[in-house]
Amino acid sequence: MTNNLDYQKAVEKLGQYGQEHVLKYYEELSKEQKEQLLAQISDIDLSVLASVKEKNGGAVKGKITPLAAMQLSEIRAKETEFRKLGLDAIRRGKVGAVLLAGGMGTRLGSEDPKGMYNIGVTKDVYIFQRLIENLLEVVKEAGVWIPLYVMTSDKNHQATTSFLREHDYFGYQSESITFFMQEMAPACDYQGKVYLEEKWKLSTSPNGNGGWYSSMYKWGIAQKAIADGVEWLNVFSVDNVLQRIADPCFVGAVLASGCVAGSKVVRKCAPDEKVGVMCLEDGKPSIVEYYELTEDLMNAKDANGDPAYYFGVILNYLFRVADLEKIREKNLPLHIVEKKIPYLDEEGKKIKPEAPNGYKFEQLVLDMIHELDSCLPFEVERNKEFAPIKNATGVDSVESARALCRENGIEL
Ligand code: UTP
Repeated sequence: MTNNLDYQKAVEKLGQYGQEHVLKYYEELSKEQKEQLLAQISDIDLSVLASVKEKNGGAVKGKITPLAAMQLSEIRAKETEFRKLGLDAIRRGKVGAVLLAGGMGTRLGSEDPKGMYNIGVTKDVYIFQRLIENLLEVVKEAGVWIPLYVMTSDKNHQATTSFLREHDYFGYQSESITFFMQEMAPACDYQGKVYLEEKWKLSTSPNGNGGWYSSMYKWGIAQKAIADGVEWLNVFSVDNVLQRIADPCFVGAVLASGCVAGSKVVRKCAPDEKVGVMCLEDGKPSIVEYYELTEDLMNAKDANGDPAYYFGVILNYLFRVADLEKIREKNLPLHIVEKKIPYLDEEGKKIKPEAPNGYKFEQLVLDMIHELDSCLPFEVERNKEFAPIKNATGVDSVESARALCRENGIEL
């Protein structure tokens, strides 16, 4: 017998958010399906749906002023000192790496997790492989395994873990890899009504990359990392195949700066390039997204006469764990993103829409930066460290990433 109490609780919760329609097919479901649906309703955070009504282009920004980046010339002059500091921290087990691999990679258009994409030409070169090979270089130099935490989502956990296991973790020590899953958020139509993906399943989407630390905590992994002595976490995206991870020079520079975080940045290639740039917002570090960058900010100059907002973030951040703990329970801004959401129509038939038909809800890692007291923007050479794969062709694509890999002597 399905638990009546659970059913009542579900009705109450749905009523609170105006989502009773998701029980439309309840009576025709099997016992297991009923239980699955009720469990999902009980677990999921429906409060995000209220933000559809308030949707007005996101959070209002405070006063934006420049935040100077540590530039290549300074980094080169102090490289030996920085690398020594960074390697020492790594050798003492103070640095961990967090791979954000919970995204859906919809723009690339592959059904598989993005990391499984093969960019090789004459041999197999998977995205995951490229990242692990880069991290292995630091492991070899430091002579210690760096703990690697991998965030997946409900949609790709199984495929990701089996793929990496089958490939023997591309030479990484499996004991040093820990997987955890991020939370899911409901996906809804333009009126804020949740879609059904199956008669027994609400449509959901990964809740963005901003929840990585709280998910790590929910899984007990953050606590374990702290107990193991990890003091810094280098968070990075899955899609940059030239990503330098746990880069000793970056770690050392952040340690030397006294900042509680660092962000790798690249010099923009044009004032209107579509990357978020580092700045101060009401005196605290922040990132202004390209679509928020006004004409005035785009043309503003710093004290040296250089463009003031010219260093774009590449989703490679170093966070001090003690400060992540302070902001763990903070509610980050919610970003509402239009999306193609598969759903059941009025007759219960599955539809895969060709065009966006609703919203997904995301929190972003870049919003964590604004919660912190300080962050060092650390310049890296664009052509050596930034080859993102977002699209199948054109800008930030497999083709452009291949060309950059070749430029860096990586055989494909
Ligand atoms: P993107 O912003 O490129 O999103 O992610 P995406 O979902 O992978 O791709 P599109 O927009 O559907 O094409 C930047 C990084 O953040 C991770 C991604 O895996 C990637 O490493 N991410 C994104 C998550 O881990 N979880 C999310 O919910 C979203």
